[in-house]
Amino acid sequence: MTSHFFWNGDPVAFQPGETIAAALLRAGLADLGQPSNVPGGRVFCGIGACQACVVAVMGAAPVEACLTPAREGLRLGSLPFVGAQHA
Ligand code: FES
Repeated sequence: MTSHFFWNGDPVAFQPGETIAAALLRAGLADLGQPSNVPGGRVFCGIGACQACVVAVMGAAPVEACLTPAREGLRLGSLPFVGAQHA
């Protein structure tokens, strides 16, 4: 069974133990689309130091995608979060 979270309303598959960033990159979603200290929000350092990968989480505080394990059903999006359009 494949696990999924939702990115701006679209399902993204992930493997057990994979971070949100790893799953987004594997899906070809490198542009995280939010303002940050690195132009065009994206995975930059990959170790939690730059906050360029911060993403919004529905119902919770924003998280660093490069550090946060993906979980089934998470609803994530670019900052500011506008909610899940499709799910
Ligand atoms: S890529 Fe730098 S904190 Fe995630």
